[in-house]
Amino acid sequence: MENSNQKRVSWTSKFGFLMATAGSAVGLGNLWRFPFMTANGGGGVFLILYLTLVFTIGLGLLLLEMGLGAKMRLNPVGAMRKINSHFGFIGSIGIWVVTIIFPFYSIVGGWIFHYFLIFCTQPLIKIHQDYFSQFIQNPYWPLFYTLLFMILTAFIVIKGVKNGIEKYSKIMMPALFMLLLCLVVRSATLPNAFEGIKFFLWPDFSKVTTNTFLTALGQVFFSLSIGMGTFITYASYLNEKVNLPKTAMIIVSLDTLVAFLAGLMIFPTVFSFNVPLNSGPTLVFITLPKIFSAIPFGSCIGILFFILLSLAALTSSISILEVAVAYLNDNHHFSRKKSVILFSVFCFFLAIPMSLSFGLLSGFKIFDKSFFDLADFIASNILLPLGGILLCISVGWFYGFKNLEIFQNKAGNIFFGFLIKFIAPIAICIILLQAVGLI
Ligand code: PHE
Repeated sequence: MENSNQKRVSWTSKFGFLMATAGSAVGLGNLWRFPFMTANGGGGVFLILYLTLVFTIGLGLLLLEMGLGAKMRLNPVGAMRKINSHFGFIGSIGIWVVTIIFPFYSIVGGWIFHYFLIFCTQPLIKIHQDYFSQFIQNPYWPLFYTLLFMILTAFIVIKGVKNGIEKYSKIMMPALFMLLLCLVVRSATLPNAFEGIKFFLWPDFSKVTTNTFLTALGQVFFSLSIGMGTFITYASYLNEKVNLPKTAMIIVSLDTLVAFLAGLMIFPTVFSFNVPLNSGPTLVFITLPKIFSAIPFGSCIGILFFILLSLAALTSSISILEVAVAYLNDNHHFSRKKSVILFSVFCFFLAIPMSLSFGLLSGFKIFDKSFFDLADFIASNILLPLGGILLCISVGWFYGFKNLEIFQNKAGNIFFGFLIKFIAPIAICIILLQAVGLI
């Protein structure tokens, strides 16, 4: 059974809550995933599609999760069970996604740690085109850095909600934003920068397929951290009244702004240095290091950038781990420390085949996807949207959106109630069915 709510830990301030939630949303999804997805998905068209989805379905689901957490003050499984004793499995989907995303995310976090150390120890290094692919093919080193990343995440989560998550997010988030702005200004003034900006913003409808919709939707879920209960968990630690619609709007805007700025930082650089486009995740790991060799004191900026990128990754990964910890703690009465350690060790084992899928296991494909790509696909494109639909249905049709008491005024309840009850589940459903070829 669930812990009683009275004992639940809580955030120390509204600002702390905002920074922690923004920290969860703003992460590698914005800086690393969004730019290359936009490049693959038709530039400006993808952007417009993304903006439409993020400010409707994304915002609505974020609000829904936060409202549910604040109301029930429980982890996702517990919160769903309170709506209906048979709905616990909907919350469990979140726990499954966490189990897939945590290793996946830690692998990329590990790559970032590696680059940070490289810039620290070898300031004059010129990162060549093949450096990244050679590194990720290595069987040991990427896993070593994955482990390091997981240990740091675990360290913060063990310290708890106030002294770990909140404390670190309050420092890391403002710093990340400042540095990103500096880098955007620098890259926008490179020769040929305008070509990149044009590419980024100019719509190319010929690249849009039905798959683009799924990719954009998957990115909305991944980038906002919705569909797996992150915000149910974070909002369950609220013990004062917070203006949730305002907070949700700030988070979506901030998250989108950072993704957009990341695009403005990447594309001018890509065009300026003539790096091939559509080169997947490598875009960030090759082009960014190249920016740094182009600026005076570049290696210092490289160090700072990779520190901040690591921190952005960490504020997200702690929110991923916290979902599992809250669940183990509430429902199985494991101590925080025991939950963190057990879950992290388990996820490290899952990370092994994912990491090796770039090298040793590269011949091994399921549905034409490597373990790493498959993990990303199943979690972001299938399970997160599925979790989202079920969440909408259970609140929209069973609990009643207005009973979450998010809005005082009628208009908000009517608009978002309608969105949650009809528009979001139908839209997500159509996109999912199209993706699996059923319609
Ligand atoms: N939103 C994070 C990002 O953009 C990733 C994330 C997904 C975090 C799911 C928590 C939960 O990088």
